[in-house]
Amino acid sequence: PAAARAQTGAFAFTPIDIGTGFDIGLPEGYQWKPLVRWGDALWSEALDSYSPETGVPVAMSDKVFGENTDGMELFEVDGHVLLAINSEYVNPGINLPEASEGVPASAEEVTLLKNLQGVTVVEIADSGNGFEVVVDSPYNRRITHETPMTMDGPVAGSELVRTNADPDGMSPVGTMNNCGSGLTLWGTYLTCEENFNGYFGATGDYTETEGFARYGIAAEGRYAYETFDARFDLSKEPFEPNRHGWVTEIDPADPESMPVKHSALGRFKHENAAMVQAADGRVVVYMGDDERGEFMYRYVSNGIYSEGGATDGLLSDGTLYVARFNDDMTGEWLALTPETTGMDMAEMLVFARIAGSKVGATSMDRPEWIAAHPNKAEAYCALTNNSRRGGEDMPVNAANPRPANDFGQIVRWRPEGGDHGADAFDWDLYVMAGNPEVFDDAMAGSENVTPGNMFNSPDGMIFSTDGMLWIQTDGDDSNEGDFAGQGNNQMLVGNPETGEIARFLTAPNGAEVTGLTWSPDRKVAFVGIQHPGGQWPDGAGKPRSSVIAVWRDDGATIG
Ligand code: FEO
Ligand code: CA
Ligand code: CA
Ligand code: CA
Repeated sequence: PAAARAQTGAFAFTPIDIGTGFDIGLPEGYQWKPLVRWGDALWSEALDSYSPETGVPVAMSDKVFGENTDGMELFEVDGHVLLAINSEYVNPGINLPEASEGVPASAEEVTLLKNLQGVTVVEIADSGNGFEVVVDSPYNRRITHETPMTMDGPVAGSELVRTNADPDGMSPVGTMNNCGSGLTLWGTYLTCEENFNGYFGATGDYTETEGFARYGIAAEGRYAYETFDARFDLSKEPFEPNRHGWVTEIDPADPESMPVKHSALGRFKHENAAMVQAADGRVVVYMGDDERGEFMYRYVSNGIYSEGGATDGLLSDGTLYVARFNDDMTGEWLALTPETTGMDMAEMLVFARIAGSKVGATSMDRPEWIAAHPNKAEAYCALTNNSRRGGEDMPVNAANPRPANDFGQIVRWRPEGGDHGADAFDWDLYVMAGNPEVFDDAMAGSENVTPGNMFNSPDGMIFSTDGMLWIQTDGDDSNEGDFAGQGNNQMLVGNPETGEIARFLTAPNGAEVTGLTWSPDRKVAFVGIQHPGGQWPDGAGKPRSSVIAVWRDDGATIG
């Protein structure tokens, strides 16, 4: 029986109970504070510009930390500590005047929303108390929906990415819906464009293509950008959406550097980008496409990387693959090429989902973050949930075995020969999330799910250097019905060897936990809290998405 299952143990902290309030829960002996909140100034001209009543003024909206923090990575540059942090999307109801009813009523309000998303590079300094932001650091940078970019790889210059403003198709503008992140072997930041479709709409007639349908691009935009900016109007710029949905590289060490959209890695709703190396030195990037029934991808470069060596072409010249998970627990990476898909190279990468369908990729339960084990050839993908699994067009399969999957699972694979460059792998399920107090069937979850550690909807995942898997959730935090006893969203730690999982952090109600990295000495963890409810963390005014710092009273390392 579920209640008799062993509680987790053997972690360097005492696992905590669920949270249900508007605060952060941590094990005894740990402390936290907000490091940077939506609206906090990056430059002194924006100090005190944030108002608890009205939020961020338009004029300062590209000089403060953006809203809805997501993936992030830490960089050490010439003795400076930098964080690159995604701001995935905005809550119009929080950012816009009540009179706007959640939809921008002017070009100025569109500008406000555009500026509060994208990427922030911010220098932080060790204050002996969980770090603090270095206002006016020359490294501080905001990259928004309006920042000039370039593109490389097979799609650069293609007809599919040419617009009126950019007839050469080489200069996309802005990075959008920046969800998960990645770190290159050469120390740059990868930001992953996810639900870019929501920024487009049509004010007039346009042609609904197969590509628009597969990527969810429709006449009704989410933020009314198209009403005030023709770039986002499908009836005027039908190719603009093709310039988004890419993995984009940013060099935090050089504030003047131009971000690069890497078309060789394919266009889909990117979650994160987990970079590892094949045995022969080729660069391997694992990527999920977060949509019900979509696929997992792997990119393999043609060239090899050696530490400190040249990086030219490593993310523009290579092969993209999609995953097939066989029911016998073997699997295979299927190459997408003009020969296997019957598509030309640019079309195949812009419409990678359509290409994946042609080669027989396995439909997954919303692939979110992929995390690669730091000490052995093994990788994990959070399959967050899938309400449509088991429907007529989406039958169950061994890796996605539960109809109407509300809880999600984490799939793990080991490439043949311990080589991430190999096309064959074996796989298993590290955990099936579930509720053993409510269910006694498959919805109870796997054996390593107990009443003391249960959760739903795994999303963010990253390994610490000690080989522990940190799991962040983005699910139902009602604490009722099927989710009774699971509380608010949370962060747990999984032991890959024993399967044990222990709850480390609970988020404020309403929030999901997004993004995780550590200070260089591993004594401070930085954790993203996205779309909190209540009045967290200020206790007054609007709720503010924030990155928090977490550390131990005794100053020991935590990852
Ligand atoms: Fe932005 Fe799939 O999470
Ligand atoms: Ca996510
Ligand atoms: Ca999610
Ligand atoms: Ca989210």
